[in-house]
Order: sequence, then C-alpha cells, then structure tokens
Amino acid sequence: MVNVAILGYGTVGSGVFKIINDNNSHIARRAGDDIKVKYVLDLRDFPGDPVEEVLVHDVDVIMEDEEVSVVVEVMGGVEPAYTFVKRALMAGKSACTSNKELVAKHGAELLEIAKDNNVNFFFEASVGGGIPIIRPLIECLTVDHVEEIQGIMNGTTNYILTKMEDEGADFDTVLKDAQDKGYAERNPEADIEGYDACRKIAILSSLAYEKQVDFEDIYTEGITKITTVDFDYMKKIGASIKLLGLARKEVGIAYSMVAPFVIFQDNPLYNVKDVFNAILIKGDMLGDVMFYGKGAGSLPTASAVVSDVVDAVKRTGNTAMVYWKNEKRILGSVDAFTTPYFVRVKGTGIESEIQDKFGEVQFIEGDPSLGETAFITKVLSGSEYNDAAASFDVVSRIRVSK
Ligand code: HSE
Repeated sequence: MVNVAILGYGTVGSGVFKIINDNNSHIARRAGDDIKVKYVLDLRDFPGDPVEEVLVHDVDVIMEDEEVSVVVEVMGGVEPAYTFVKRALMAGKSACTSNKELVAKHGAELLEIAKDNNVNFFFEASVGGGIPIIRPLIECLTVDHVEEIQGIMNGTTNYILTKMEDEGADFDTVLKDAQDKGYAERNPEADIEGYDACRKIAILSSLAYEKQVDFEDIYTEGITKITTVDFDYMKKIGASIKLLGLARKEVGIAYSMVAPFVIFQDNPLYNVKDVFNAILIKGDMLGDVMFYGKGAGSLPTASAVVSDVVDAVKRTGNTAMVYWKNEKRILGSVDAFTTPYFVRVKGTGIESEIQDKFGEVQFIEGDPSLGETAFITKVLSGSEYNDAAASFDVVSRIRVSK
C-alpha cells in the first residue's frame, strides 16, 4: 500500500482525490501497488464532502508521517508550496506538482534535492495541463536536439483569440464573456499579459536547453493589443493569430519568448482553437511532433498529476534522470531574434517609402477607410525591424511564425 497526501483541495486537488478513488483498481494494476489518499491538506473545511475523513489542517501531520511516501502539491503559487515540497523531498517522500510558478522558479533545485534523497520530483501537469509533454521530452525525445518548441500553452487567451477571429467580437467583449463562462479569471492579467505562458515556456526551455532558464529573462508580450482589424487582414491571407510560447536555437544562441504570432494554415497550430492547448516540437532527427489536448481543468490536469504518482510508485528507490542543471542559461536578446513581421502603418500611397526602409514586403489590401497600409516583411532581426519602423506611425505589428 502506498499512502499519498494531497496539499490543496481546490480544482486540481479535488480532481486528484476523485481519480485516485474512482479509478483505484486500474491505477493499482498500473502502479503495481495499491494507492490510497491518507491525507488532504487544506485550510478550509468541506462539510458533507468525502474528503472530510482524510482532511487535515496541519502540514506537520503529513511531513512527520513516515507512511506517506508521495506528496501531491496542487496549491499553486511559490510559497508555501516551495517550503512544503522541499520538506517532503528531504523527508524521503516523492513530490508531484501541477504548479508552474514553483517549477519555473525552483525546478532545477528541487530535482537536485530529489536526487540527493533518492526520491522523485515530477511536474507533468505544470505545462499543458493533461497533455503529456514533460515525460515525452525527458524520456522519449532523448536522441534529438530540440531545435524549436512552439506552443499554445494558455487556454484562456486561445479562447479569446478564437472568439475574436470567428465572431468578429472585440477583445473587451470576449474577455467579459470568457469571465462570465468561468474560462477567464476575474483578474485575467496572468493569462492575457502572457505571464502564465511565460512560466510554461520557461519550464520547457529549461528541459530543452538542459539549464535553468529564468522566466524573468523571457521576453513576454500578451494579447491585449490584438484587434478585430488584425483578424480582418488575417482572413485575407489565410492566417490566424495565436499566443505562442516559443523556444528556438539559432546558430548556437537560445531564444525563448512569449508573444502573439501570425500562423499560416500549413502550421499544425493553426487549427488549435478555443481552450485547447498544443505544443509543437522540432527535433533534428525526428522532425515535427505535436502534442494536443486540454491544457486546464480539474480532471485533465489531475490525470497528469496522478500519472506522476504512478510513475513515482513504480520508481521507488530510483530517481529518474532529468537533464536540467541548476545553472543559468543565458538567452539571446529579442533584438537579435529573427522573424518576419506583419505591420500596419498609418498612411496610404507610401508603398515605396515602406520598401525603401523594410526591403521587399508583401502588401495586404485593407479597408481604404482605415487610411493605413498593411504588409508582411521579410525575415528581420528585432533591431532591424525597430530601425525600419522608426520612420512610420505603426498601428500594429505582430511577429509571423517562420
Ligand atoms: N489559466 C490557465 C489557462 C490555466 O488558461 O490555460 C492552466 O494553467
């Protein structure tokens, strides 16, 4: 019998409790041992809920119980999650988490502590919710050099962009609708400004580059400046706009960023709509591989967390090899990152000035009443773009996926 403690009985924690109870015999067969939730830690009480039987309010009860061998951390936020997970690992308990803030900030250190204590620290659900992406990166794509990762890693913003595209509704209206439906938080900043996707691409970049990529170093741009007019242009060129978390290696330099990108139909991310997530990885041997599914929600996320618990049980006494050194990875500057740009500038009849500054461009016909000119540039570095754009009154500019 393996005893598990769940830290936090919120959306994900209650999903973990349900899955371990509902699929118990199936999970036992896969893990090779019975798994039981011995404790659930939460500050709140849940009168009438079956969790009452195992609910505790004091974390010491869990940490001091030698019968607990796996701790599931699903509280979110860096503290007290970090203190609790570190303590669990040092007490010889494996830890499984869905907490992207915790993993992005302390992942490398917690992996080291797990190794020193001959236990495991797993975090499958921290990126892409229920989509298997961490384990494939660590265990399956071991042969390839990862050349690029492009991911739609935030369901809220993908839902908003899909509605803007399909219904022609403006950003504020769609955001309000998403909040009313419970897809977007009342305080949506972490999603719409790209901070949530930034933590997720920090984790994937660290695994791809094998060193700590600090999320504070990642250039991050949200979706608040995207308008329905941008989508009108996209319809003309058969493209869409998606918020991407991106990691790319180019001539030995590693770049990571979060920004809206124009995506054409030949990119498999083009068809990823609504709250779905997808992560496209380019390996130097394998080529493209894409992982698609539900990036949030109680049961999808909890499914990934419990799969970590099963893995931790199967690997008792054996720490999984994860290449993520606790050493800082320096990233290339956004000024050196090369990409084409979709640009709208004020003024008409200025095609030759545009070509003079930007070089060869592809013009896109727009609504004449807007009094603007839209075009897609050739591949430019960030600083080449800035130099060329300085001569114009730019209405909008969005990077284009190469
Ligand atoms: N707010 C996140 C999203 C939840 O919309 O994808 C999962 O991290």
